[in-house]
Amino acid sequence: MTAVTREPGPVGDPAAGEDARARFFAAAPPAGAGAAPAPDLRVRLGSLTLRNPVMPASGCFGPELAPLVPTAEIGATVTKTVFARRRGGNPTHRLTETPMGMINSVGIPSLGTDGFVREVLPRYRAMAAPVIVSVGGLAVGEYLTVMDELAGARFDGVEVNVSCPNLEHGGLDIGTDPDAVARVVSGVVARTDVPVLVKLTPMVSSIGEVARAAEEAGATALTVANSFPGMALDPRTRRPVLGNRVGGVSGPAVKPLALRLTWATVQAVGVPVIGCGGISTVDDAFDFLAVGATAVQVGTAHFARPFVMAEIARGLAARCAAADATRLTDYVRTLGET
Ligand SMILES: Cc1cc2nc3c(=O)[nH]c(=O)nc-3n(C[C@H](O)[C@H](O)[C@H](O)COP(=O)(O)O)c2cc1C
Repeated sequence: MTAVTREPGPVGDPAAGEDARARFFAAAPPAGAGAAPAPDLRVRLGSLTLRNPVMPASGCFGPELAPLVPTAEIGATVTKTVFARRRGGNPTHRLTETPMGMINSVGIPSLGTDGFVREVLPRYRAMAAPVIVSVGGLAVGEYLTVMDELAGARFDGVEVNVSCPNLEHGGLDIGTDPDAVARVVSGVVARTDVPVLVKLTPMVSSIGEVARAAEEAGATALTVANSFPGMALDPRTRRPVLGNRVGGVSGPAVKPLALRLTWATVQAVGVPVIGCGGISTVDDAFDFLAVGATAVQVGTAHFARPFVMAEIARGLAARCAAADATRLTDYVRTLGET
């Protein structure tokens, strides 16, 4: 990843990160060492049981961060989106800070399925958590090619990233078209035995409609949502900061938007929903669980605090223990109807 430009702010203040890191590693994990057993944080996504509901958002955590993260304390890992063929990504700059967030136009560079299976997947499999492979495509058929090329590789789940432009249909995101989503999802489901998560785009007027199309096509769970399209100008030149001019906005700035979309999706479908967008604290995670999410994904927060997922997982356990709840799912019910 390229360096973040502009002044360090709430997302990427390195000094704040150092302090938080020291505090995190100084605290012992809540391993049930005392009299009471550790609360049961397990959640289920179809046939996949996670030890807790915390996992990374695709593209924001990879093997290079693994030495900084106790991966035995997170629910799962999610890979960066894989495309069928090698791609270079967008021109630099690719990242910049925005108020309470970040905007990126990384453009999803990929080694292609071959290179992914050979060089990247083994590094994810070496971590102490189930691996969910994020699959992308620039046409319906490309998703299915990736799935065909993944045959024989070992992983625990798939996340279908439908926030990719459909080059066969004028470049609009596949995820804005319920029929295209249904075709991609049913094709992926037919090609694998592992649970299929579908990561929705926020750029739709009715997320319920797309969510139902994914559910009816066989999705095991839905991730809500990808980053929001945005733009940042350099105040000195009045020119776009990003080489690609536009990018995806993420981080705390998008949390209320993602929370509303998660809530709306939970109302629309029966399958589990995974909240994603601006989650950086245990309180954020509880907000998404309170509106009905089964699990959460953490993205931008890694840039300042690579250990943030384990920190949130420990926080969930500590809240349950403080409320004398032996199971997270029971404790979440006490948060009330939203
Ligand atoms: C640098 C960067 C790279 C990303 N790459 C991907 C990707 O490869 N696939 C994907 O589905 N989402 C990708 N995303 C979107 C995130 O997975 C997530 O949906 C979004 O950032 C919102 O979550 P957050 O606010 O916690 O970051 C990326 C986001 C960032 C910031």
